[in-house]
Amino acid sequence: MITARTADDLRRQVSAWRVAGDTIGFVPTMGALHEGHLSLVKIARERADRVVASVFVNPTQFGPNEDFNRYPRQPEKDAAMLEEAGCDLLFLPGVETIYPPGPPSHSTFVEPAGAAEGLEGACRPGHFRGVATVVLALFNLVRADVAVFGEKDAQQLAVIRQMVRDLHLPVEIVPGPTVREADGLAMSSRNAYLSPEERRAATVLHRSLEAARELIQAGQRRADEVRRRLREVLNTEPLARVEYAEVVDAESFQPVEVLKGRLVLPLAVRVGGTRLIDNIRVTPPGVSEISKP
Ligand code: PAJ
Repeated sequence: MITARTADDLRRQVSAWRVAGDTIGFVPTMGALHEGHLSLVKIARERADRVVASVFVNPTQFGPNEDFNRYPRQPEKDAAMLEEAGCDLLFLPGVETIYPPGPPSHSTFVEPAGAAEGLEGACRPGHFRGVATVVLALFNLVRADVAVFGEKDAQQLAVIRQMVRDLHLPVEIVPGPTVREADGLAMSSRNAYLSPEERRAATVLHRSLEAARELIQAGQRRADEVRRRLREVLNTEPLARVEYAEVVDAESFQPVEVLKGRLVLPLAVRVGGTRLIDNIRVTPPGVSEISKP
């Protein structure tokens, strides 16, 4: 596996592959890699001849009181895991590569609305602006044919799809299913913050989602009843504080009242001091699943 730290090194290698006729798959990450990230690398390998992964803890997507400084960083371990997973190139840029210091210093941002409004967008003002900006910059640097994003961050996936459509970006977005621990907790770099007691409590997210799914399978079609069920289960855990527990349309990410079509049930819950998000996708029975590109 090649490691590129500058835009020039990255471009040189990717151009050589392109000239040779190879297609490029891309997996952007913030590092502290786990099986969830590696599953996306595997999908990229199936979809393209060469796989590029980036590790960049993007400062612009963190709020002033968020965990940017203490976000776990383990570049050597990440590199070893990526190599093992069959990644061809690790892009490991410094902040000055992504955000040129100038003068004039970096000053252009992507401002997503629509799917970026509400939920994470409301709880973390500016978050999706930072995500969309860095992802567009990375897309322009890597020039991949396909890019793989996890359903774990379902709203992020919807925001990226929306940006690709709105700005006519020449890249295909491929979703990867959420990879979970044996007890159902969605893998996340932030799980490392949990104490043993909090780690046990954190399983309540997945349990609440499964309880809501059962309710829907049993025929419940009122979104308020599903929201109530999610909160009921989440509130059984004293260490958990719910930020939101919603039922939204899978594409627009806007809340629904009556359950139909493809839905996402997204959660944000604080467990101790750690903010966790999770979700499941649900299509109520009797409604045929029509997959859109
Ligand atoms: P990060 O949180 O490192 O996640 C990188 C990718 O891994 C995202 O597409 C995310 O959805 C996916 N992922 C995380 N946990 C997963 C799991 N348990 N199963 C499957 N996929 C999982 O998301 C970001 O970084 C950043 O916002 C980024 C897109 C890199 C922009 O900075």
